[in-house]
Amino acid sequence: MTATEIRQAFLDFFVSKGHTIVPSAPIVIKNDPTLMFTNAGMNQFKDIFLGEAAPKASRVADTQRCLRVSGKHNDLEEVGIDTYHHTMFEMLGNWSFGDYFKKEAIAWSWELLTEVYKLPKDRLYVTYFEGDEKEGLEADTETYELWKQYVAEDHILRGNKKDNFWEMGETGPCGPCSEIHFDSRPDNERAEVNGATLVNADHDQVIEIWNDVFMQFNRLKGGVLQPLPNKHVDTGMGFERLVRVLQGKTSNYDTDVFQPMIQFIADKSGKKYNSAAKPGDADWNDAVAMRVLADHIRAISFAIADGQLPASNKAGYVIRRILRRAVRYSYQTLGFKEPFFNQLVPLLAEQFKGVFNNLFEQKDFVQKVILEEELSFLRTLEKGLRRFDDLQEEIITNSLEKFPSTPKTFSSTEEVMKAIQDTANAAANSQIVVPGNLAFELLDTYGFPIDLTELISREKGWIIDMEGFNLALQQQKERSRAATAIDTGDWIVLKDDESVEFTGYDETETIAHIVKYRKVTAKGKEQYQLVLDKTPFYAESGGQVGDKGELVFPDGEIIQVTDTKKENGLIVHFTDKLPQDIDDALTAIVDPALRSQTNSNHSATHLLHAAMKQVLGSHVNQKGSLVNADYLRFDFSHFAKVTDEELAQIEAIVNQKVRENIPLKEERSVLYAEAITSGVTALFGEKYGEYVRVITFDDNFSKELCGGTHVKATGQIGFFKIIAESAVAAGVRRIEAITGVAAEKYIVTQNALVNQLKELLKNPKDLSKSIEGLLDENAKLKKEIEKSILEKSSGLKTELAQKAEAIGDINFIAQKVALPNADAVKNLAYQLKDIVSNLFLVLVADFDGKPGITVMIAENLVKEKGLHAGNIVKELAKEVKGGGGGQPFFATAGGNDISGLDNVLVKARSFVG
Ligand code: SER
Repeated sequence: MTATEIRQAFLDFFVSKGHTIVPSAPIVIKNDPTLMFTNAGMNQFKDIFLGEAAPKASRVADTQRCLRVSGKHNDLEEVGIDTYHHTMFEMLGNWSFGDYFKKEAIAWSWELLTEVYKLPKDRLYVTYFEGDEKEGLEADTETYELWKQYVAEDHILRGNKKDNFWEMGETGPCGPCSEIHFDSRPDNERAEVNGATLVNADHDQVIEIWNDVFMQFNRLKGGVLQPLPNKHVDTGMGFERLVRVLQGKTSNYDTDVFQPMIQFIADKSGKKYNSAAKPGDADWNDAVAMRVLADHIRAISFAIADGQLPASNKAGYVIRRILRRAVRYSYQTLGFKEPFFNQLVPLLAEQFKGVFNNLFEQKDFVQKVILEEELSFLRTLEKGLRRFDDLQEEIITNSLEKFPSTPKTFSSTEEVMKAIQDTANAAANSQIVVPGNLAFELLDTYGFPIDLTELISREKGWIIDMEGFNLALQQQKERSRAATAIDTGDWIVLKDDESVEFTGYDETETIAHIVKYRKVTAKGKEQYQLVLDKTPFYAESGGQVGDKGELVFPDGEIIQVTDTKKENGLIVHFTDKLPQDIDDALTAIVDPALRSQTNSNHSATHLLHAAMKQVLGSHVNQKGSLVNADYLRFDFSHFAKVTDEELAQIEAIVNQKVRENIPLKEERSVLYAEAITSGVTALFGEKYGEYVRVITFDDNFSKELCGGTHVKATGQIGFFKIIAESAVAAGVRRIEAITGVAAEKYIVTQNALVNQLKELLKNPKDLSKSIEGLLDENAKLKKEIEKSILEKSSGLKTELAQKAEAIGDINFIAQKVALPNADAVKNLAYQLKDIVSNLFLVLVADFDGKPGITVMIAENLVKEKGLHAGNIVKELAKEVKGGGGGQPFFATAGGNDISGLDNVLVKARSFVG
């Protein structure tokens, strides 16, 4: 069976058992602070397990793209070294939400593996949870009894909490689990060593393929297990491992999931991939590197396609670290000195067409982002790698300096040479400790994530002084934290009711109560954060800034709201003080002018997005957005500068839509699936709930999923004007634009400027032609002036030459000249040198109120008398409170005191007298 057939057989099987197939969630998680990336198929159902959301169907199945590179589930270090862990992998899963439980889950797992996929039963082992006294959990004997119907007893094994109690993270849904393992060793090995002893023992041929979790608890902060409202089933099967087992391979990389990629890398690098290479073999490093590249490109591409660009912190940094790890292997091990890693994207996108289309749809963008990352890391990688060599050399040199450590007499040169060699070898082989500050320098200056430095050190058999590294890192963090320290106090709860109603779509004034508040100190400034039971204040999200406004109290007190933000579903109002009467009803009033300008900019952003898709193409996708009262900023995927003509076209379409005065169609609760079928624009990598809000301006023009506030009809936008277009990152460009009053003001100012120019130029018929004429004329005049200065300085030449005074064998000239700049004086000095032999020349000049000194000394005088124009000019410059320098035969200086010029001339004589 091909990988595609294997995946399909899984989905078909569960459809036949009454399951609905659902799409994979994005790999990047945006709204769960406990998790950065999807690490299991069940993540997207977390709310259902916890009883916080109702399921659409009680039985579902899917293939989910997962990433295990951080937090509780992290396989990164194993990837490439072994043949069955991956950063990104597909997890095939079936779920029961309060429907079937252990009996069916176990029966179906067995049926699928042995009857559909026809895996040999005697190679399968299953496990069950042995219980845990500390947690107060009993052994899962029910699972044991259920398995006994299908599996020989010596193939049913007990497992501890580590292996048989599955948890999503430090907190969240969890429960006992039952794993299914497959023994793929040859028969002779199986006869020698019982497979049961190799289960969960890191044996690369006895591997877990499927995990059935029986969800029953929620792990709370602090560790307590709280029973869930219902019992659920969550199963996860590693797709790449299943394919390997069914295709009779001993490595995931030997299946059709990875082979095309591995072969591509092998071809391009001119190296062979040896799947059987062992550590220490000549081709081991190459094999690891090829596996790493074939694996990592998946994690990085899908993360970028789902909206996570590489960055210097949080989830973005996790992606950058993986990317740099791959680039190092590509550069150092496989010898690609130019960016190569990005070239894997098209192949991968093609492979996942029909499975996860989001990559195919954005493949050019993803490739471009990776290329730019590669280019940037390649700029420092070589230098960083050299620091490792330097370290080794330094250590050898240090040891040799100490040589011979014990006094010894040598009888021959060979003996001395041998002793030196031995000392060098011993130093090279000794356990080298990478100093903590070097590891930090590698991070800070050369962009080596610490895990990359660790990996390279490990390959060399070195260790890192992690304590020193952490200290250096800590010190840096403290330096930056001191600048931005925020101290957040505890919430003080006035009313226990946590449900907060947002009224801002319908009104800008609402009567409300404060339900809780807290004090926050940031950079020494005190602020308060207030939560109301009802509020018209829009909290910053989806690019739209938070509202500003007032809270008005019955006693007349008015508290300013300076910003509004979201925190875990709460709407938090920022104020500088607390009201006198905190329990009173208040009127929350959003600043109407700011809100209306913001509405205008937000609606214009939707029109802009739609117009851009028309003019530039459907590849244009939103990558970021900012909407406030002053302007709008829209970042989008596009590869070239948007030309002036394109910008004009976009602007024209938006303004046309403004003039059409299209009424806003706002649908607050549309089924997500229906919205998508109707062609709505959704963001890649955004996880939407079952019901979404749809904002439409003309059914055939702009339809977007959006939570923001908008104009009632596009006419309110008034006028739309793009004011800037620029690049922000690889493949991402930015448009900034204004609307309404701001756009009007902009046009008025521009117009006034043009009028002013016209007036200055005496109202010419064609303004730009007349400016061009002025510029031409100016350039001509400049040339003429330069010419006349040169003529003047040449004229001075004869005059000055005649003033030369013979002092000993020196022809001394010290004069003030009326030339306008240093170049003209320099020109004169060089000309004098040609006609006056043994010249000692000092010229001073007044350059628009600034003193200038030039010293020229004939080369023979420099040689014979040791005179040095550079030193002399420095001395002379003291007279004009200045400084300068130059060569022994020519030097210049400037200064601040023009009145000292005559003294310079007097002092000059002292050098020849
Ligand atoms: N949640 C379990 C796992 O990830 C089973 O799907 O292994």
